[in-house]
Amino acid sequence: MYVPDPKILALLRIADSVVVLTGSGVSAESGIPTFRDALTGLWSKFDPADLATPEAFARDPAMVSRWYDERRRNVAKCTPNAGHIALVALQRRILAAGKRFTLITQNVDRLHQAAGSTDVIELHGTLWTWRCMDCGVETEERGPAFDVYPPRCVCGGPRRPAVVWFGEELPKHEHLKAQRAAGSCRLFISLGTSAVVHPAAGLIDLALRNGAQLLEVNPQETPYSHRAHWCIRGPSGEVLPRLMDAVFVSDKTPAG
Ligand code: OAD
Repeated sequence: MYVPDPKILALLRIADSVVVLTGSGVSAESGIPTFRDALTGLWSKFDPADLATPEAFARDPAMVSRWYDERRRNVAKCTPNAGHIALVALQRRILAAGKRFTLITQNVDRLHQAAGSTDVIELHGTLWTWRCMDCGVETEERGPAFDVYPPRCVCGGPRRPAVVWFGEELPKHEHLKAQRAAGSCRLFISLGTSAVVHPAAGLIDLALRNGAQLLEVNPQETPYSHRAHWCIRGPSGEVLPRLMDAVFVSDKTPAG
């Protein structure tokens, strides 16, 4: 059982600006597979070159769009876990104290928003929005499976999921907002991400270069573990609630 380190609690209490970068590990306990975990990760079963590149969509738009639509419908069955919910509490607490909090996610499932997190920066887009390749119109999709793959826009053009594929740029506005937050925060929390995909992982470098403390929460090591000031090894759905409880409990302790 994870017992929070008092120094980490102190860090969470004094930091006047906190950035959290999340990856698919945060949604693992909601039943959504990660990408690179050895047996269960999506990229252990599928080749991203066949599914997550513009070239793959150009080659086989029916297969690629069907795969993403299946993921969309699987995600629709999932609900936020205790880790997502603890992050909502963290955001509220920090904002209520007049401090800055930024949640940046690489996840495309919108479970942070479903839990109640606000102003989430989606670096890799979302499975819930589909964009016409011809006219560029984006539409939110919450319904059942599409009738045809790739789904069609009212203009007749093929539609693709509004996610970021390998070889594509991050959405400019989101990336800029994420860079500004990472470059000016006191505490950067890397949560449930392998931190191997750039430019997202580069936000950690940016934060460190600008003097932030780095806290990593992950059952496994990452390329940034040796540069982290603190590492908590465990699943976010267990670690974060304990961390938040400890912060809140010490808040309630009467002075003197
Ligand atoms: P990865 O699959 O690369 O990494 C998932 C991380 O979550 C690993 O470091 C695991 O150890 C950790 N993990 C597993 N279970 C966990 C749990 N219960 N709590 C906390 N951590 C846990 O997924 P990402 O880092 O999200 O990009 O991958 C980054 C990007 O690569 C994704 O956004 C996606 C993918 O290709 C695109 O699709 C563009």
